Amino acid sequence: MNILGITHPISWNNAACLLIDGELVSMVEEERLNRIKHSPRMPAKLAMEYCLNNSNLSLNDIDYIAIGFDKASNVAFKNLGVDNILSDLNQAANWLIEGKKYEKILPFENYPADRVFFINHHLAHAASSFFVSGFQEANIISLDGSGGSESGILATGKDSQIDILHRFPNKESWGLIYELITEKLGFRRHSGEGKVMGLAPYGKPDPNGLPFVKWDKPIPYIDSKLRKEYMDSLPTRLKNEPLLDFHKNLAATLQDTLERAAIRMAEYLYSVNASNNLCLAGGSALNCSMNGKLANLPFVKNIFIQPASHDSGTALGAALMVYAKKTNKNLNFVMKHAYWGPESNDDQIEVALEKYSAKLNYYKSQNITLDTAVELSNGKIIGWFQGRSEIGPRALGNRSILANPSIASMKDKVNNQVKHREPWRPFAPSILEEEKGRYFKEQKNSPFMILAFDTLPETRDEIIAAVHIDGTARPQTVNKLTNPIYWNLIREFQKISGIPAVLNTSFNVDSQPIVNTPEEAIETFLNCGIEVLSIGNFIAKKLDE
Ligand SMILES: [Fe+2]
Repeated sequence: MNILGITHPISWNNAACLLIDGELVSMVEEERLNRIKHSPRMPAKLAMEYCLNNSNLSLNDIDYIAIGFDKASNVAFKNLGVDNILSDLNQAANWLIEGKKYEKILPFENYPADRVFFINHHLAHAASSFFVSGFQEANIISLDGSGGSESGILATGKDSQIDILHRFPNKESWGLIYELITEKLGFRRHSGEGKVMGLAPYGKPDPNGLPFVKWDKPIPYIDSKLRKEYMDSLPTRLKNEPLLDFHKNLAATLQDTLERAAIRMAEYLYSVNASNNLCLAGGSALNCSMNGKLANLPFVKNIFIQPASHDSGTALGAALMVYAKKTNKNLNFVMKHAYWGPESNDDQIEVALEKYSAKLNYYKSQNITLDTAVELSNGKIIGWFQGRSEIGPRALGNRSILANPSIASMKDKVNNQVKHREPWRPFAPSILEEEKGRYFKEQKNSPFMILAFDTLPETRDEIIAAVHIDGTARPQTVNKLTNPIYWNLIREFQKISGIPAVLNTSFNVDSQPIVNTPEEAIETFLNCGIEVLSIGNFIAKKLDE
């Protein structure tokens, strides 16, 4: 059974995936192909074409299409309140008009309508996590800014069934308050939230700083009238204005409030369903500091977080939901890695390198991991391009910029010379899975770099350039079987330096999507401070260096 999963074009991040007999085969975000960051509010047309072409299929071969959003006409007038009926009706009418407008640009025509399924957005988020977690049962939290009829759910999963226990209406959205304060702090909404999370450890949280959050029920909630008053009273920092203590403290307060609320949600779920497994999805689940707090809860023994937790992941969740419905089978596919996108072979890479031969030297390495490890140990910044591209916003060792994490000045060097971004933005370490205990007390794996843990003070200096100011880091634990080349590279680096870890950041400059093709990797390498490019089995250096 071939199922094409696709995001609704109203989504803020768009993607497509292909599921064959319940197994994920391909998945890619539209931004990697059309080069428009996040590709918000547009159809995942190129992503869909990639998924079909990669398996030599056409739309005629697809049994069902699954979309990660309800049909607008099904949800617009849900959640009307009695206290604010006019405003609610107005919002519902807007949503109906907007939803229908974007439905019209879904990228398939003449496909039989009775084989197209619209799946509730947060059910799709929840499915994208639980159904690929490998857990037979779990509690599930899905939160984002807004997702059709609601902005989040608390649910339980068992086998091929997901039951919703609680819905967060859009006007009581946890993701929305993060978005609004991100904007007030002078960053771009739907994009700058990670910057706010990175800023938070520089400030002091005020436990009562967000007076519209109410804590008197088991699940905390947001008073939307008070929220509006509060937001209206907040000044907006202009982009070039300095970040003052006020801004840092606001970021800290927001982060602390979200973390405490999420902990209460997990505790509520556990009180209703005493499961030791927790699954997270929705845009808010990209918040690795919050995720780390949840992972540390005493009753959470196992945690799975979908690496494409933002809207892109709903393509996968929707496809999995349709597969479960149509077959009544339990989902057996476990997402052990995030490498589902396009790749290039050495022949294609060499053609690309040859095009730029006036600007670079290159050679074919007999041992790419060893040669790259030597460059790393010499303090060079490496562009690392291997295998299939990752899904989700994190580079996980296939489209990464790498550096020696023990050089304290490396964080500033990479921020200034390569990423051209704010000096307080942190990096993350990729660590051999077997060696995680060297740096963390927490023993859970983190294959998707989406959990922040406290580092051990005694070894912190070895990865100091990838540690946050508060002593936490968000590691990627690298498994030998799921990414053997990357694992071998880090092992070779360890043999030279004694350190089983590298600094890893995404292979892009600040406003660019992560590179996808060899040409994009080479262009980015030539135009920023990356010193060595390791691409397939080739090593390239700039002619002027
Ligand atoms: Fe979403």
